[in-house]
Amino acid sequence: MSILVIGGTGFIGLRVIRLLAERGEEIVCMDINPAAARFDDLGKQVRVIRGDVTQFDDVAAVTTETKPSRVLNLSYHLGDHPPHVATKLNIIGMDNCFEAARLCGVNRVVYASSLAVSGQQKHFGDRPVTEEDYQYGDYQYAQHKRFNEFQAADYNRKYGMTITGVRPANVTGPDKVRGSVDHVNCVTQPARGKPISFPFADAMRCPIHVDDIAEVFVRVLLKDKPAHSIYNSGGQPISLGALADIVRGYLPDAQISFDKQTGGKESSGNYLIDNRRLVEEFGVQYRPYTERVLQIINEVRAQEGLPPVKA
Ligand SMILES: NC(=O)c1ccc[n+]([C@@H]2O[C@H](COP(=O)([O-])OP(=O)(O)OC[C@H]3O[C@@H](n4cnc5c(N)ncnc54)[C@H](O)[C@@H]3O)[C@@H](O)[C@H]2O)c1
Repeated sequence: MSILVIGGTGFIGLRVIRLLAERGEEIVCMDINPAAARFDDLGKQVRVIRGDVTQFDDVAAVTTETKPSRVLNLSYHLGDHPPHVATKLNIIGMDNCFEAARLCGVNRVVYASSLAVSGQQKHFGDRPVTEEDYQYGDYQYAQHKRFNEFQAADYNRKYGMTITGVRPANVTGPDKVRGSVDHVNCVTQPARGKPISFPFADAMRCPIHVDDIAEVFVRVLLKDKPAHSIYNSGGQPISLGALADIVRGYLPDAQISFDKQTGGKESSGNYLIDNRRLVEEFGVQYRPYTERVLQIINEVRAQEGLPPVKA
């Protein structure tokens, strides 16, 4: 089938496209930065075009021409941006995808929400957060994701569409440069032989490897009628201090330091996440996080021309 991936040359998107191609799908990727990833080895299975999701005409044109059976939107501003700039991409861009799909008769749309919608873990105590819990995310990125979820539900309710959101946790991988990066730098900088320092050893994160989240997006996208409209990805709850210990296990000379041992946990975002919906319906199983840390270390070392480290 033909699948339209918007924002497909980004960190997650380029992996999603490769997994879809492995499953024999035909993919059209629209991105404002089409040269950021190359799919030449996949031949005619992947077509990359330049387009701006904030321009309804661009989205409508590619949707009309492609006649996709599914649309995946991964384009977004990660981090904090001027309000007008962020609204154009995060709110208008997302709505352009939903509306163009509706007008072109594409019932299946998948989009990326985020664990950020839930806000800080302290609101929930020491229990995992479900998709039904109240959302406390209060900064720009979180509020925009919350509105995206509302908008998707509104389209589903009013037009009978099947728009599904995935809330990735803290995605990690060797080439992650936007969004939450402290847990990434805690691995990649020592892998390069560089020192790295963080404010708090007890700051909590919930990393999930980019290959795992790409597989999640593919499974959700390829299902005709998922049981739910929103899914938590979940991941591995871990403190930066414990992550540093894993890294030191592979790289004994790693220079990772913390200003303070405590003080970061209470201000940590949501890190205990209930992903039973996803696991039970889609059978996803993530590779052990320690193996992913080693994978990232060796990918970075290969880029730097350094020898791999062994498990
Ligand atoms: N990476 C994470 O840790 C993480 C965690 C939770 C949720 N998410 C969500 O997953 C999605 C993908 O994240 P990512 O890490 O791959 O981000 P990314 O920034 O690497 O990729 C986003 C892509 O969107 C494209 N894009 C930006 N503006 C565009 C525009 N106007 N028109 C068309 N394309 C445009 C970019 O060129 C880029 O290729 C985002 O919605 C993000 O909020 C990511």
